[in-house]
Amino acid sequence: MAVMNILLSMNIHSLLADGTGPVLDLAYAAQILSRVLHFLSAMILVGGMFYLRTILAPSSAAQADPEACFAGRRSVWARWVGIATFFLLASGIYNLMLVIGQSKAAGVKLPPTYHMLLGIKFLLALLVMFVMSILAGKTAAAGRFRGQMGKWLNIAWLATIAIVVLAGILRTLH
Ligand code: HEM
Repeated sequence: MAVMNILLSMNIHSLLADGTGPVLDLAYAAQILSRVLHFLSAMILVGGMFYLRTILAPSSAAQADPEACFAGRRSVWARWVGIATFFLLASGIYNLMLVIGQSKAAGVKLPPTYHMLLGIKFLLALLVMFVMSILAGKTAAAGRFRGQMGKWLNIAWLATIAIVVLAGILRTLH
């Protein structure tokens, strides 16, 4: 915020010298913050998933007792899964509102393909969030899911690859 105040007081309102770039205002800062939160949350959730799948879950300790993956700190990981899930949902919905708002302002209608692919991405994201939450849970059902941890992590990983491909395609559709 302090940096933005300094730049605004210097009368630098556009990020490009010819004035055609994005305008440096609160809406712009919110847009960048939302992207940063989306990326950071995805990194935490998917990074944790990848480490669990490749290193922790196949270890002999985890084969004997899947909860050993968490080295006695399952509840800490569960909290991070919750935080990452919240920010992924909040920033994702904000991103979507921005894309729709910017298209409307430009007088362009988003193609139906955009909404269809975004719907698929959303459902796959819910699947990933569910798998990561239940694997970190403390209920009897969570214990049963952990009994087949490798299988569920593979499913979540495949869904994540599809999500990232879809995100790449979505960017090209508006
Ligand atoms: C595991 C969950 C998720 C992952 C790994 C993920 C990943 C990504 C990535 C990598 C991008 C590209 C960012 C960029 O290039 O700026 C993106 C964009 C986006 N994500 Fe997600 N995301 C997830 C969940 C969600 C959810 C739950 C929503 C809610 C609707 C959402 C909505 C969006 C939107 C609207 C965009 C912008 C797409 C565009 O450029 O038109 N995402 N996501």
